[in-house]
Amino acid sequence: MRVLVTGGAGYIGSHTLIELMAQGHEVCVLDNYTNATPAVLTRVRALSNGKIADFKGDVRDPAMLDRVMQDFAPDAVVHFAGLKAVGESQQKPLTYYDVNVGGTLALLHAMDRADCRKIIFSSSATVYGEPDYLPYDEAHPTRPASVYGRTKLMAEQVLTDWATAAPDRSAVILRYFNPVGAHASARIGEDPKDIPNNLMPYIAQVAIGLRQALTIYGDDYDTPDGTGQRDYIHVVDLARAHVAALDYTCKTCGARPFNIGTGQSYSVIDMVRAFERACGQTIPTQQAPRRAGDIAAMQANPARARAELGWQATHDLDAMTASTWAWQSANPKGYDAC
Ligand code: WQD
Repeated sequence: MRVLVTGGAGYIGSHTLIELMAQGHEVCVLDNYTNATPAVLTRVRALSNGKIADFKGDVRDPAMLDRVMQDFAPDAVVHFAGLKAVGESQQKPLTYYDVNVGGTLALLHAMDRADCRKIIFSSSATVYGEPDYLPYDEAHPTRPASVYGRTKLMAEQVLTDWATAAPDRSAVILRYFNPVGAHASARIGEDPKDIPNNLMPYIAQVAIGLRQALTIYGDDYDTPDGTGQRDYIHVVDLARAHVAALDYTCKTCGARPFNIGTGQSYSVIDMVRAFERACGQTIPTQQAPRRAGDIAAMQANPARARAELGWQATHDLDAMTASTWAWQSANPKGYDAC
């Protein structure tokens, strides 16, 4: 199939390009490079058959979208382009609604003008909010506690109403848990701008000496060791879920959300210990109070994805930490050196 990947130069987008091309799909990227660099596509081309059409532009720009639709004529869209910093979303709510919801609306309008009827959407487990029960299944109530989470849930609702308003439309909504890790080549990986918000890249930057110590937010949660627990998923497993979702759009119509996690959760201390095994060093830590908005524990029930997408995660914790360490140690400055 011909697949347009918005935000395709990003962390998850770049890994997804490789998995799509490995299955024989033709890909095109639309990215405004506000949170990525074109050097990523150079590396992805070197890691694949090399054919990637790409356009620099904003997913909210109707003229740009029409140009991409006309030039590439996608059969389906994988929609990554969006803002994803939870803390920042609280400071800049209108920007987050404009990009994450407005961008999805603009994309769907352009798809309608081009008669493109299949979309896979990058959503997040943060749409669930504080758990009534764990592991979360897709029927769990959605009560996002951040602006970021509310933009993702609103975009899900737009997609659901779009997909059910006309025949032969399909919207697959992937609710990511915590993406981590890097491609086996160590040529692409997570490269956060500024100070990492997320745990794994922060630990990796401590290990290469960019940061002094990891601050552990909270040791008084109702978890076995008191630190926060999350369902970490290897980015290559996550990328493969998008390929499975694309196949699913060829068999079904309407909208359907899927939890994309492993079903196994680990604490902050578990992650530190696992990373120490991967890098062969001690990771210095310091204790701090809980981070505002953090939830004690999150864990996916991925049964629906296994049953209906034929997908499940295959990479274990050591593969997540070892691939992160390989990427970080081979690219101490991320893509900046490019
Ligand atoms: C994980 C655990 C922290 C950093 C967010 C978004 C989610 C997705 C992934 C976009 C928590 C602890 C963290 C640190 C720490 N992003 N921690 N010290 O908050 O679960 O999820 O990022 O899709 O949507 O909500 O991930 O990696 O920030 O935190 O102790 O320096 O690590 O308290 O328990 P989170 P995280």
